[in-house]
Amino acid sequence: MGFYESRILPWLIDGVCSVGQVMKRRSLVIPQARGTVLEVGIGSGINLSMYDPARVTLVYGLDPSPGMKRKAAGNLAKAPVPVTWLGQSGETVPLGDNSIDTVVLTFTLCTIPDWYQALTEMHRVLRPDGTLLFLEHGHAPDKQVSRWQNLLTPGWKKVAGGCHLNRPIDAYLREAGFTINDMDTGYMPKTPRWAGFIYSGGATKALR
Ligand SMILES: C[S@@+](CC[C@H](N)C(=O)[O-])C[C@H]1O[C@@H](n2cnc3c(N)ncnc32)[C@H](O)[C@@H]1O
Repeated sequence: MGFYESRILPWLIDGVCSVGQVMKRRSLVIPQARGTVLEVGIGSGINLSMYDPARVTLVYGLDPSPGMKRKAAGNLAKAPVPVTWLGQSGETVPLGDNSIDTVVLTFTLCTIPDWYQALTEMHRVLRPDGTLLFLEHGHAPDKQVSRWQNLLTPGWKKVAGGCHLNRPIDAYLREAGFTINDMDTGYMPKTPRWAGFIYSGGATKALR
């Protein structure tokens, strides 16, 4: 991993992902988490302050990036709930089957290289009565916007840590065996439309 990925990108991502309108959307999702939580691609730990200690017993924060772990140190120290850091990729989750009450996925499915394998792992560890909470950006329904997303993604991936602008989040969740129970979609204001189409909601595991 080069200097840019380990020393600059974690600070850039943290800044962009913690602006006011994004924090507001996070605050609608994260307090719903309960029990034992797995946050995949926890990054700099922006969500940590929003977990409700009356509902959450432990957060496994999984992220393969040492740079992100460094950037997360402050949020980890202030977390209102216990956190165990797992320095691994979402494609191989080191937790048992049916061991997790809530999987949290915020602005991460865009980046995970093998999204299907990672979602399969989330499906495996989630309890049958558990919930996957998601807040992601991705494929926009407007043809003109999605054309730009497809055009920009190859270059964007190189500067944004592997982030794809054009992933159809709802279709990916369904393909990996989740049932989406509630979902809001829409463009974030004050954000270029090619980067700002948001999918937010909750899914459960359709039994295989
Ligand atoms: C845009 S950041 C989002 C961080 C955090 N989820 C948030 O909401 O602020 C994407 C995160 O995905 C992580 N990531 C990259 N590849 C991954 C993988 N294979 N499995 C899990 N996380 C991964 C990156 O290290 C980074 O922290």
